[in-house]
Amino acid sequence: LAPESFQRRLLAWFDVHGRHDLPWQRERTPYRVWVSEIMLQQTQVATVIPYFERFMARFPDVGALAAADQDAVLHQWTGLGYYARGRNLHKAARHIVAEHGGELPVHSLEALAALPGIGRSTAGAIIAQSTGRRAVILDGNVKRSLARLHAVEGWPGRTAVARELWALAEHYTPAERLADYTQAMMDFGATLCRRGIPQCQRCPFADVCRAHARGEERRFPESKPR
Ligand code: ADE
Repeated sequence: LAPESFQRRLLAWFDVHGRHDLPWQRERTPYRVWVSEIMLQQTQVATVIPYFERFMARFPDVGALAAADQDAVLHQWTGLGYYARGRNLHKAARHIVAEHGGELPVHSLEALAALPGIGRSTAGAIIAQSTGRRAVILDGNVKRSLARLHAVEGWPGRTAVARELWALAEHYTPAERLADYTQAMMDFGATLCRRGIPQCQRCPFADVCRAHARGEERRFPESKPR
């Protein structure tokens, strides 16, 4: 599928079925997008929303977060789980104040991805959603969608497989509407091309999906060999 067709189909689906009024979409500052992406790493959107609102009320900016005690941060995290995320968020805030003048380094993918808790995909998501600049994401949802669309064999934990998926993600990423495209890819993977039984009857790519053509959606992506 040509990238332009992929983008057109995905965004048409997103305009109708995607999520457009999440709290972190309303005011897309780097700080708000960053906190939301960290909370969303292992937790579903519906659970994250009230935590996000409370977190923003308590720590409205990087400076407030950096100035807080770690205990106060973890207190806000109680119930979200995966507490390393909260500790890394706090550590990164102190680093941003000390090394980056209190501003998230959204001009540099490398600088952003070097912060505790922010990998390459999360750095891409923050840049795309807060600045609209072109940046590529490949989180679990996107890996699954692309692995199915192209019937990519092998476990994504393997370097060669990850490299192939990153190349596909790069290939399909547009030059415009980056915030929407990024959110659309995550919504698509979370709601249509989901784990277990995907919703192929409503999928805008069902006619070109290699896994679907073979009736093998559930085989992709492959799990870790044992
Ligand atoms: N998972 C990670 N980031 C997300 C986002 N912005 N929306 C939905 N799910 C996500």
